[in-house]
Amino acid sequence: MSLDQEDGVNIDEVLDSDQAHVWHHLTQHKGFESAKPPVMVSGKGMRITDANGKEFLDAVSGGVWTVNVGYGQERIANAVRDQLVKMCYFANSAGNIPGALFAKKLIEKMPGMSRVYYSNSGSEANEKAYKMVRQLAAIENNGVKHKIIYRDRDYHGTTIGALSSTGQFQRKAQYGPFAPGFVEMPHCLEYRSQYGDVADYGERAARELEKVILQEGPETVGAVVLEPVTAGGGVITPPEGYWETIQEICKKYSVLLHIDEVVCGVGRTGKWFGYQHYGIKPDFVTMAKGVASGYAAISCTVTTEEVFERFKTDADDPMSYFRDISTFGGCASGPAAALENMRIIEEERLVENAEKMGVYLMEKLQSLQQKHQIIGDVRGKGLFVGMELVKDRATKEPVDESIPARIAADCMSNGVIIGRTNRSFEKHNNTLCLSPALICTPADLDEIVDAIDSAITRVMG
Ligand SMILES: Cc1ncc(COP(=O)(O)O)c(C=O)c1O
Repeated sequence: MSLDQEDGVNIDEVLDSDQAHVWHHLTQHKGFESAKPPVMVSGKGMRITDANGKEFLDAVSGGVWTVNVGYGQERIANAVRDQLVKMCYFANSAGNIPGALFAKKLIEKMPGMSRVYYSNSGSEANEKAYKMVRQLAAIENNGVKHKIIYRDRDYHGTTIGALSSTGQFQRKAQYGPFAPGFVEMPHCLEYRSQYGDVADYGERAARELEKVILQEGPETVGAVVLEPVTAGGGVITPPEGYWETIQEICKKYSVLLHIDEVVCGVGRTGKWFGYQHYGIKPDFVTMAKGVASGYAAISCTVTTEEVFERFKTDADDPMSYFRDISTFGGCASGPAAALENMRIIEEERLVENAEKMGVYLMEKLQSLQQKHQIIGDVRGKGLFVGMELVKDRATKEPVDESIPARIAADCMSNGVIIGRTNRSFEKHNNTLCLSPALICTPADLDEIVDAIDSAITRVMG
């Protein structure tokens, strides 16, 4: 019988209990009839330790690009503890101290934005924006301008509404029927250009939005939701000229621009928000994962004062304000963690570090691409990078998804956790993903890239 000395927990009991009773996310459990599932026990900085005592360098910030300030930040834990003792919860129809202070601090990083609506997850934050768009349509034009356009390969969450607006076939398969009013537009991955080798790819890909708006009827389209850099869809950085055209089209047809910063938000891409690389003026920005780096559950739907005002125009109408509540949007632990998380990012200049380390990582991966033919494309922004694996660089035929799975498993057995696109597309689950914490150093990145180098050599050898 093993015993975790630190907190007196019987680890064998934990593993047995997990195997018997926990239903893990994104997991086929058949293999766990004869083996124990992975259980993570402790973490410090960039490293995490499992129940067997094996330590890993985490190149994906908690598996799904979340723990942006790294593990074991006692300042955040203390801030949450202090807040819980003082006042843990009250429904967010009333404010609380960290909620008010974090909203101010957040808005200071987002010129042009003004109001923060709290909830718990990225999916929920997106659902709030969708509800706002639909309600504005209901209030202002009998519900006609209610449709929301989303993009092939983007992901916006797990709930039925958010999944209805997701452009990933395998994530959606078997979970329909989906909500009406969501319409897909084509992706903007230049490496897999739909138009051949063209000089104006970015503008053409953006014009697809206009085509969909015209096809649906501009009077019916309320908003478009886009990731600034597509995350789980293969780390897709937007092509040149893309965002300028998207912005122009949104203005032309009075379509609200909703940027989903659930992954990119709060420093990951080397700016506070991904959209800030591209000079865009969004109407909604949603965020979750990095807001409190996983130390507490919190998400934010941020809007402009202009959108907010539109919910106040008729105070005599008992139905015209935003009649939504998220019970746990009132947990004061969320903004308490977010406030301290943001202070750490500021004091330790982690946005700047993400930019600097991102350049270093990109250079290293481009060198790796020279060495391994299987790496067809390397793309990313800041500490958010993807490597698309192909059988043949000329035809760009994707490798079978078992290859990235074996490369990731090899890295894991050698103590480095990397990510990969997983059950998203039929043929394109072929991208390795890296999103190390914003605190990473060149030595951490060297170790990560060395592990991938050796893994590719072994798997392809
Ligand atoms: C871009 C994007 N939006 C939304 C979500 C959904 O967030 P959550 O899992 O917190 O509901 C995710 C989750 O990975 C995401 O990557």
